[in-house]
Amino acid sequence: MSKTWGGRFTADTDKRVEAYTESISYDRRLYRHDILSSKAHATMLAEIGLLTAKEAQAIRETLDAIAREIESGTFPFSTSLEDIHTHVESALIKRLGDVGRKLHTGRSRNDQIVTDVKLWVREAIGLLLEKIRQLQIALVESAEREKGLILPGYTHLQRAQPVLAAHYFLAYVEKYQRDADRLNDCLKRVNVLPLGAAALAGTSIPIDRESVARQLGFPAVAANSLDVSSDRDFLVEFVSCLVQIALHLGGWAEEWVLWATTEFNMIELPDSFCTGSSIMPHKKNPDVLELMRGKTARVIGSLTHLMVLVKGLPMAYNRDLQEDKLALFDAFDTVSASLELAAPLVEGTRFRSEAIALRLEDGFLDATTLMEYLIQQGVPMRQAHEAVGKLVRLCEEKRCRLGELPPEVYEEIVAGLSRGVYKVLGVSRAMEAFRSFGSTAPEQVAQQLARWQNRLGG
Ligand code: ARG
Repeated sequence: MSKTWGGRFTADTDKRVEAYTESISYDRRLYRHDILSSKAHATMLAEIGLLTAKEAQAIRETLDAIAREIESGTFPFSTSLEDIHTHVESALIKRLGDVGRKLHTGRSRNDQIVTDVKLWVREAIGLLLEKIRQLQIALVESAEREKGLILPGYTHLQRAQPVLAAHYFLAYVEKYQRDADRLNDCLKRVNVLPLGAAALAGTSIPIDRESVARQLGFPAVAANSLDVSSDRDFLVEFVSCLVQIALHLGGWAEEWVLWATTEFNMIELPDSFCTGSSIMPHKKNPDVLELMRGKTARVIGSLTHLMVLVKGLPMAYNRDLQEDKLALFDAFDTVSASLELAAPLVEGTRFRSEAIALRLEDGFLDATTLMEYLIQQGVPMRQAHEAVGKLVRLCEEKRCRLGELPPEVYEEIVAGLSRGVYKVLGVSRAMEAFRSFGSTAPEQVAQQLARWQNRLGG
């Protein structure tokens, strides 16, 4: 097969070089986007009089036929044709002859590849946003289902203060919303049309970039041709967004791996999302969660791959950049698959509410509320902290709870304290005492739950 750039060469490319430099094995994934941008380019070339309307029509129809052939699996791919652009253009020329030879007017593979990748990323963002939404819906439904359940809240993985299960689920809804917002923000940089920058300097052909932008749905056109072919910061940004999603999923996965243990005994994972052991008959392993935690490494690896790839690259296009797609595709596929499994995992998991309730009074979850009660009785904060710390120590000695200490103990701290203090002791009463905006106060949580149901509903 002849090269599209063969003119100045006298020797054929070494087969080993072909194998080493090809990208068709992975960039064939961009065929739809490559064909879409080529169709828009052809239309524009007809608008400026460099193709007749009939020629442009023939090019568009033939490109569509090539797309169908690729989809049917009969299209011949070959490493000698390097990449997706060359494959599509060569197939076009094979079918249309000289008309096909006109398509590459006023463009280069350098601006073409960035355009294709941007079209692909735009689609990927749409898919991710929908998956995030599905996960958020699953989380909100769990919040609704477990509305009344109180969980021990942890800091440093030590029992800290009580939180409503609904509050816990909504915390993740907030995190994934930020992930969605970040993707939408990234879209602003993606949505700037590269095509028309040509190799690096623009072109003397009087192309109409606005027309191509309109056709492809890009709200803006890149204003500096040199910038275009070297720009991969939209990819670093997109993959950072993916890393952040993977980090959220990985932290949650770790949490639920712990919560599913006999030691924590807080959740029951769905059987269909766990696997057994080949030797220990009793085992039910949380493999999906473990892999979700593990795959975070791979996504971080992709970001590192991209950053090291662009580090120290001089202006403008350099062939190194071809390797960006490996990291891009792998990061997307990994995060996409994790998101896909996270939603049904959330839906299928049940809290062991009885086991949780049995131990809820352990660990002094009401101690901070007691301190705040003292503060509201006029005790300076540091003094209240000290006093409750001593009460906890006393309880540990007596092996009892704060609510089981006799009134005299409280009277010693502030006269009259014992009259009201028992109202905030014990986990459910401590829970009722919360007030502040954004807190786990049942009223606050109900408001937030309603807000999210509203926002995600429909
Ligand atoms: N396959 C190349 C890539 O993915 C396309 C651009 C090649 N440009 C060039 N002048 N060799 O980056």
